[in-house]
Amino acid sequence: MRKNIVAGNWKMNTTVAEGVELAHQVNAAVEAATDLKCEVIVGVPFTHLTAVKQVLTAVNLAAENCADHVSGAYTGEVSAPMVASTGAQYVILGHSERREYYNETNAMLKTKVDLALEAGLKVIFCCGESLAQRKDGSYFDVIKSELTESLFHLTAEQMANIVIAYEPIWAIGTGETATSDQAEEIHAFIRGLIAEQYGAQIAEDTTILYGGSCKPSNAPELFAKPDIDGGLIGGASLKADSFMGIVTAF
Ligand code: PGA
Repeated sequence: MRKNIVAGNWKMNTTVAEGVELAHQVNAAVEAATDLKCEVIVGVPFTHLTAVKQVLTAVNLAAENCADHVSGAYTGEVSAPMVASTGAQYVILGHSERREYYNETNAMLKTKVDLALEAGLKVIFCCGESLAQRKDGSYFDVIKSELTESLFHLTAEQMANIVIAYEPIWAIGTGETATSDQAEEIHAFIRGLIAEQYGAQIAEDTTILYGGSCKPSNAPELFAKPDIDGGLIGGASLKADSFMGIVTAF
């Protein structure tokens, strides 16, 4: 049975002290909640990982990126083993902001995925199309290439440590959410691709998150869809009450 997950992606927000306070509030709310139907993760800046880890008991921790090398002369980079050494369980890879602003390619992401898994991290792997690709109809091909070129070299055993996040770029931070039907169409497509590559059981077991202006008001409808197993949450993860409004949406 696949897991439901709600993961925050704080992006480049909060000081360490603010981040620790936010993590503390989220953790307390998750701890107090009874009958939660999802795993909860916070994705935080590298600088925050160690301090945030100290206040988490009921919430898992993710980095927002890792390097495409293990160690060495790569000034400013942070490797997957370094992330793992903070106690983080996850790393978010392939976010559209990384692809667009930092030129991350499918090939580079393949390397990052391998290094993250080698370091014992689970990967939240993001894919999704731009507005132009949505309009010209190429979005199925775009998503297929992102998955094929960065993930589908993995073994079936390794796929158990991959969570996929579908994040249409036109819906990220724009207030414009994909409709639940638009999202479900892509989620079902992604699950079908996994089934073709790895078989029906692994496809059934893979958690696929939706991301893009997900908030407490639209999360219930999105999460009610059969192939939407939770969310990757940007803006709404920066306040404990709005994030918890999504965590409790199942
Ligand atoms: P958003 O961001 O919820 O602010 O749209 C989602 C994401 O980029 O992961």
